[in-house]
Amino acid sequence: MIIRRRTLLAATLATPALAACASTAAESADALAPLPQDPDSYARPNEARVRHISLDLTADFERKVFAGSATLSIAARPDAREIVLDAHSLNIASVRTNLGETSWTLGEHQDRYGAPLTIAIASGVETITIDYESAPGAGSLQWLEPAQTASGKQFLFSQGQAILNRTWIPLQDTPGVRITYDARIVAPAGLTAVMSAEMLTPQGEPAEGGGRAFRFRMPQAIPGYLIAIAIGELAHRDVGNRTGAWAEPSVVDAAAQEFDDMPRMMRVAEALYGDYRWGRYDVLVLPPSFPYGGMENPRLTFATPTLLAGDKSLNNVIAHELAHSWSGNLVTNAVWADGWLNEGFTSYIEDRICEELYGVDYTMMARALAWAAIQAEIAKNTPDTTRLYAAGDTGSAVAYTKGALFLHTVERIIGRARTDRFLRSYFDRYAFQPMTTAGFLEDFRDHVVRGDADLEARLLLDEWAYEPGLPANAQEPQTDRFAEVETEIGAFMAGGAASAAPWENWTTFERQRYLQRLPRDLSAAQLDAVNTAFGLNETGNAEVLFDWLQLALANGYEPAAAPAERFLMSMGRGKFVAPLYRTMIGQGAWGQALARRIYAGARATYHPIVVRRVDAILNPGE
Ligand code: BES
Ligand code: ZN
Repeated sequence: MIIRRRTLLAATLATPALAACASTAAESADALAPLPQDPDSYARPNEARVRHISLDLTADFERKVFAGSATLSIAARPDAREIVLDAHSLNIASVRTNLGETSWTLGEHQDRYGAPLTIAIASGVETITIDYESAPGAGSLQWLEPAQTASGKQFLFSQGQAILNRTWIPLQDTPGVRITYDARIVAPAGLTAVMSAEMLTPQGEPAEGGGRAFRFRMPQAIPGYLIAIAIGELAHRDVGNRTGAWAEPSVVDAAAQEFDDMPRMMRVAEALYGDYRWGRYDVLVLPPSFPYGGMENPRLTFATPTLLAGDKSLNNVIAHELAHSWSGNLVTNAVWADGWLNEGFTSYIEDRICEELYGVDYTMMARALAWAAIQAEIAKNTPDTTRLYAAGDTGSAVAYTKGALFLHTVERIIGRARTDRFLRSYFDRYAFQPMTTAGFLEDFRDHVVRGDADLEARLLLDEWAYEPGLPANAQEPQTDRFAEVETEIGAFMAGGAASAAPWENWTTFERQRYLQRLPRDLSAAQLDAVNTAFGLNETGNAEVLFDWLQLALANGYEPAAAPAERFLMSMGRGKFVAPLYRTMIGQGAWGQALARRIYAGARATYHPIVVRRVDAILNPGE
């Protein structure tokens, strides 16, 4: 039982306190604990709220749709006459409640938000069953053709964050509303379904139409964006006793090997922030079109195969997604404007886990690369987009790097032990609850600052949260590991040879630093020299290859066209894909022709999220 000293969210509410209106006892008052109105959702959860979702869906790979029903258990104010859900392009056949038929309307559709699904409820309504299908173009889902997978079988996966789950589930798609869920999913014969939930039937059960049914149960209350599903030919390997890897059979051993530090990561995170509360932790390596590095779906992180570098050098992404088990999945941004509470805290915890596992040097190099990136972003963006609160685009470095820098700054000022104690108690106090920026600051002042005016003045809390750029107390991460990189760059630019000797011994971060710090304008002869000395066109490390291609394409370096095409045809991670097309488009006729030719072949292989981004780059204004 969680006892809050004070309702932090109440201050931001327009509606009157609800506890007094709630019909019965603590249970229903708690069920309607006040939430701020989310501008990204049509739902009005202070009036009527979904508590549990029960899915019964068939994955129809021929039509590329989910078909079936969602039964929602709800809690409502006694005077509530309707409940509003988010629905995006759902084809709704019927809606009924535990009391029988009911009326419903779908409001006006908006491109990004979909439409409000308003359902009439009378008192006594406890469940609502919606028979529906998703649309073939549902923005969350990617239905892969056999040619796009390692196994040569069909594959499907979902991506919920931020507001995409409404394209396959009618729900209150706002992170303040937490739900438990269960599901029965019918998949084609030979394929396995996995979800961000406990798997009740690992082998599946015979089901209608010759398919197999998989049942799931998620007993912890999660925000709707964390419901996730994947269906494909999947194998599992244990990595320790409560962590493991899922992937297509030909990939699963490489995945289990690359990620075999997961048990240690788990021990480090638990020692810092308390018990892992979700049961198992598995990582699912998806086919290469997965649009992100990783996605922190509870119990089952989704990850890109571009993490499989062979040397664990990109394992910070796994540390990051695991860290979300506390920052994000346990204590959750109330609305997306508070997203830095998820991503910034998680990036800080990622640094702490990596420091324990891979050492201070590894972490400081990672932080120094991130520092350079945030400086560049602040320099090129309008100040408005560099505030932590409402950082805007969730893909921006602000929520991540500025957010992490905030906690690193706190740590420097109040000490590591106090920071750790605070964070641990914060995750305990607000476990399974939403958090706002204002609520966090109030809590931090209550538990750490405690009226100490001198400390308050040194922290610059409000400036961090609400002002653009980096406050004066931000400090650049220091590492001497990049000194040799600078020396090599200097020698090379002074006409020396690109020396393979240090490169061979460098880590991924030093190689990235080298490629990021070489002057942007290089001749074909200079690019030839580094390409040949370091085998850049052939590198198997996706981060290094990306940095190389950015540099080479920006200089119109023809020999990079073929590896760029191979890379862009072989994976669909937005962080790599979008900037590479942007670079080519910035390169006059040569680059534009190259970008259009590659995209003509690649577009059909990308996830809808990435297609949207690249379409906008190639055809601005459309
Ligand atoms: N939650 C994010 C992914 C995300 C962000 C999905 C915004 C949709 C909208 C995830 O935890 C993440 O940040 N992944 C990063 C890796 C991380 C180490 C910075 C990624 O995908 O590259
Ligand atoms: Zn994250």
